[in-house]
Amino acid sequence: MSGRKSAAEVFDALGERYEDVFGRVPGQLAALQWLTERLPRGARVLDVGSGTGRPTAEALVRAGCAVTGIDVSAAMVELARARVPQARFEQADVRTYAPGSAGFDAVCAFFPLLVMDQPEVAEALDRMASWVAPGGYFVMATVPGDIRGLDIEWMGHEVTVSSLSTEDHLARLADAGLEVLHHHTALFRPGDALAVPEEHLFCYARRP
Ligand SMILES: C[S@@+](CC[C@H](N)C(=O)[O-])C[C@H]1O[C@@H](n2cnc3c(N)ncnc32)[C@H](O)[C@@H]1O
Repeated sequence: MSGRKSAAEVFDALGERYEDVFGRVPGQLAALQWLTERLPRGARVLDVGSGTGRPTAEALVRAGCAVTGIDVSAAMVELARARVPQARFEQADVRTYAPGSAGFDAVCAFFPLLVMDQPEVAEALDRMASWVAPGGYFVMATVPGDIRGLDIEWMGHEVTVSSLSTEDHLARLADAGLEVLHHHTALFRPGDALAVPEEHLFCYARRP
């Protein structure tokens, strides 16, 4: 029997351990500062793969935003509700989620798209872009690369990961009608024996 796990299983097991290791990624904190400087108080923001609610939902709530977080992991949703009670969290999968409102002033996606297959990554980018209202922002981070169903061990769990190259991320966002205002990659070195250094891609985009 395969020991490979779904994203929900991996993140149910990791819980706050994820935040201990990845809760202060400098590129993510910088992206949140960039975003909150541009959003008015009361802005409606969707955080996809909201994890423990820290640092993303917490920073957005502090900036006066009305935050909805979705996450496929029930344990993460429970942690986030306890940590950031001013935000609303829902257990949902980005591949099937249907937002009720007309669109968000901003959509964030920090690292939720890796434990799925490559066509699903591409489709999830299209879906998230479609939820950004005109004039709204999309900020995302991932591990870039033309990665198709690669079996790895990550944080003590066997998972199968996929991603797109930086160029394919940028092209996909542009095709979805977003203007990419900035992107960069950065090497993150987690201070934990279970985690290895990762290259991170950050994209800041806007729907004209
Ligand atoms: C690497 S963690 C990042 C958490 C948070 N965004 C942060 O940066 O601290 C990825 C999160 O996305 C969630 N996730 C993974 N696949 C998902 C999916 N298909 N739909 C919604 N959430 C997903 C996981 O459960 C996990 O909480």
